Amino acid sequence: MKTLKQYFNEAVADKWALGHFNFSTADQLKAFVEAAMELKSPIMVGTSESEADFVGREQAVALVKSYQKNGHAVFLNADHHKSWETTKAVVNAGYDSVLIDASKHSYEENIVLTKKVVDYAQSFNLEVEGELGYLRGSSEVQEKIEISPADYTQPEQARDFVTRTGVDRLAVAFGNIHGIVTNQEEHLDIGHLKKIVQAIPVVPLVLHGASGLPAEEIKMAIQNGIANVHINTELRVAYHDTLHEELEKEPKETTPYKYLKSSYEEMKRMIKKYLELFGSVGKI
Ligand code: G3H
Ligand code: ZN
Repeated sequence: MKTLKQYFNEAVADKWALGHFNFSTADQLKAFVEAAMELKSPIMVGTSESEADFVGREQAVALVKSYQKNGHAVFLNADHHKSWETTKAVVNAGYDSVLIDASKHSYEENIVLTKKVVDYAQSFNLEVEGELGYLRGSSEVQEKIEISPADYTQPEQARDFVTRTGVDRLAVAFGNIHGIVTNQEEHLDIGHLKKIVQAIPVVPLVLHGASGLPAEEIKMAIQNGIANVHINTELRVAYHDTLHEELEKEPKETTPYKYLKSSYEEMKRMIKKYLELFGSVGKI
């Protein structure tokens, strides 16, 4: 199996993106991996700190390793880990990758914590993502979120950040927000993304908060340097709504593998749609 680094090198060179999908249950993970394998697409699956608490760190690693053992190109990322303690825990548990998200700290504090993680991760052969810029919102349905160019990742600062920390990839802000907003349109500033790419052309860039964005803009972002796209809220909403419908339709059904079938199938359908959009189909 190719490494995550190899896939990122190919994605940057050929202008496609690895999909990153968050999970909290084993059936969601199974749907993601099966969809990707059917389309011969590499994928990343992720757990935030809270998702990791629920699934269990060692359990998440064991589940993903069971798919990797069968030749599936699936990589486990610790998404938005914000403290040294939680980050160290996922590195020790055997994750393939971690996002140390110290973006809420001052710039210099962000560098110190990110560099500490990069140094620690080195002996574990694990990829490290850093985050720079202010990404508002959270992975849920919200009414309105303020989006301001003042929050964007600054190109020159991005160059300095990457040089001083040695991160393998960088999460950037250029109009993206976490979650879905009901009272507002979401748009990316592709002109700003181009400036970031000019400053750090070889570093894989990560688009967080892709839920709610027009498909055409995600495509344009990939054509202009994004190599990794994170989706969470749209999957959460679809899983919830499909399961809710099923329970209403069959209120007496108590067998989990029966009432979970339609939400599992919906997850598979959605992942396939995203992988087509991201251009990663057939890249294994
Ligand atoms: O790290 C997770 C993603 O950035 C998810 O964002 O909930 O807007 O899809 P989203
Ligand atoms: Zn994110």
